[in-house]
Amino acid sequence: HRHLLGIEPLAPADITTLLDLSDQYVDLNRSARKHTETLAGLTQINMFFENSTRTQASFELAGQRLGADVMNMAMQASSIKKGETLIDTALTLNAMHPDLLVVRHPHSGAVDLLSQKVRCAVLNAGDGRHEHPTQALLDALTIRRAKGRLHRLSIAICGDIAHSRVARSNILLLGKMENRVRLVGPPTLMPARIGEFGVEVYEDMREGLKDVDVVMMLRLQRERMDGGFIPSEREYFHRFGLDTEKLAFAKEDAIVMHPGPMNRGVEIDGEIADDINRSVIQEQVEMGVAVRMAAMDILARNLREARARERKVMA
Ligand code: CP
Repeated sequence: HRHLLGIEPLAPADITTLLDLSDQYVDLNRSARKHTETLAGLTQINMFFENSTRTQASFELAGQRLGADVMNMAMQASSIKKGETLIDTALTLNAMHPDLLVVRHPHSGAVDLLSQKVRCAVLNAGDGRHEHPTQALLDALTIRRAKGRLHRLSIAICGDIAHSRVARSNILLLGKMENRVRLVGPPTLMPARIGEFGVEVYEDMREGLKDVDVVMMLRLQRERMDGGFIPSEREYFHRFGLDTEKLAFAKEDAIVMHPGPMNRGVEIDGEIADDINRSVIQEQVEMGVAVRMAAMDILARNLREARARERKVMA
């Protein structure tokens, strides 16, 4: 693959290869050294047209630990504010010869469009409601390390599925790896054409969580609810928030996940989020750095090979 735009084009073997390499980067990150020269001589530009804490910080750290020259574009201060189009911004950056471009954008498909205009590897850091591939990969790594496998698990994804690129990428990835995926939440927050996803749908949390191995909670994405259903926080927590009573329906050793940012007391009880025996939320953040290192390592190898082939053809 030349880019990482989504989970959709990946084969199960691609996912396994990336997670195996990520395991090696977890070890490196836990060591005193934390550093390699894998991306030495390469330039990584991070362009975030939407807010981010985890994804931007971990892509930046991942690039630095791999020895790349890393630049964060300050999009709030950029000429986008003066009316420059996404494509013109991309062409301007392209002229600076980046090797890796990490992009988050509020519109579904914008990152794909941009990838067609530049001569470097593009990594999707989240586009609209479409995909957030590195999030699904870091979730998969967290699950594989906690459960010892990434197949034949029962996984409940709960909350605002309709507006969530995290849910979409996870549904695709977990399905490809032959897991049983349940979606739990109010019907108003389920995507249209849910039947196409090969998942089970539940409106009742207790039924949806019954005997699952993994409980993945999502926040209400109010910024994407344009005038539609917006539940009150109290009512939402009562019916769909993860608390001890509802979690008791899952398997005794079920893990609790959340991609962040988390709204305590809305979709998850703060005590569960902090319970180190159940919650793997901090592990997810740790895995995020390793997965992004692995993804950039693989794409940089592919890029170097493609450029070497081009040079051979030109010679
Ligand atoms: N999980 C996630 O994408 O978090 P950020 O929005 O903080 O990057």
